[in-house]
Amino acid sequence: MSTPTFDTKQREYRHRVEARLDRFLSATDATPARLLQAMRYACLNGGKRVRAMLVYASGEAVNGNSELLDTAACAVEMIHAYSLVHDDLPAMDDDDLRRGKPACHIAFDEATAILAGDALLTFAFEILAADSTHPADVPRRLKMIHCLARAAGTAGMTGGQSLDLESVGQQLSREQLATIHQRKTGALIQACVQMGALSGDASVEELETLDRYAQHVGVAFQVVDDILDEVSDTATMGKTSGADRARNKPTYPSVIGLEASRRLAEELYRQAIVCLDTLAKNAYTLRQLAEMVVHRTY
Ligand code: IPE
Ligand code: IPE
Ligand code: MG
Ligand code: MG
Ligand code: MG
Repeated sequence: MSTPTFDTKQREYRHRVEARLDRFLSATDATPARLLQAMRYACLNGGKRVRAMLVYASGEAVNGNSELLDTAACAVEMIHAYSLVHDDLPAMDDDDLRRGKPACHIAFDEATAILAGDALLTFAFEILAADSTHPADVPRRLKMIHCLARAAGTAGMTGGQSLDLESVGQQLSREQLATIHQRKTGALIQACVQMGALSGDASVEELETLDRYAQHVGVAFQVVDDILDEVSDTATMGKTSGADRARNKPTYPSVIGLEASRRLAEELYRQAIVCLDTLAKNAYTLRQLAEMVVHRTY
């Protein structure tokens, strides 16, 4: 059997996570219709699905349990979608456009957007904690919950978002900016790779190697997001270009310059790939994903 191309893999991963998200977010008696509509709007309205792909690719590198990978991929995409809904609120980045459509608080209203974010965050942990038919999965699920909670919480994304908001209009050092980016964006990306690895039988050394790979990819992701905000256009990105500069946000281009930011993204990519070289397992898709993160255009 021939190896699927990266394009085929991406399509397969996207289809898998979107079909499951659609199922998880289908009508129940308990969820008010408008809240469910906003959750679906936030989760099923496009998006590159990079985080889900990282979960799957990391899981496949360690022969992980595919049902568990599906749940983990949905959980990280729910947390990510919640973070975007809240990030766009007037009290935070105040952005009207997301994934080429009105942001959730514009399409609905602020209260609904806040609640949809809260509900997605909570639901992510509900699906991870739900009973599995395989008792052997229970310790894996518990480890995944811990990993995701740390990455989304004060040590990771929420803490990073808080530092990001405090930094508006400030002159930051390169080190301070690196910390913010690692926490607000890198931590969740690291969790994706760790959760993938936790679905299988990765050794401690393999988990560490995958985590080093993910550290580089995670920071590279936000460096590239900062670069695109500066050089790309609204139609291509599906979100307002130049928003960071307009809001006086410290970014890699504003702190170290555009060319140095581009060089840094390439260097982080190179370092990520070097980590994979020491991994005996099948890392082809992880390599392709690192390349996609650094060379993407939106
Ligand atoms: C945007 O993430 C927010 C950041 C952490 C930079 P993505 O660029 O992955 O957003 P979607 O999911 O593709 O819309
Ligand atoms: C967002 O960073 C990171 C999150 C945790 C949501 P940005 O504020 O740069 O993300 P965009 O550019 O709005 O997607
Ligand atoms: Mg932000
Ligand atoms: Mg933003
Ligand atoms: Mg941005």
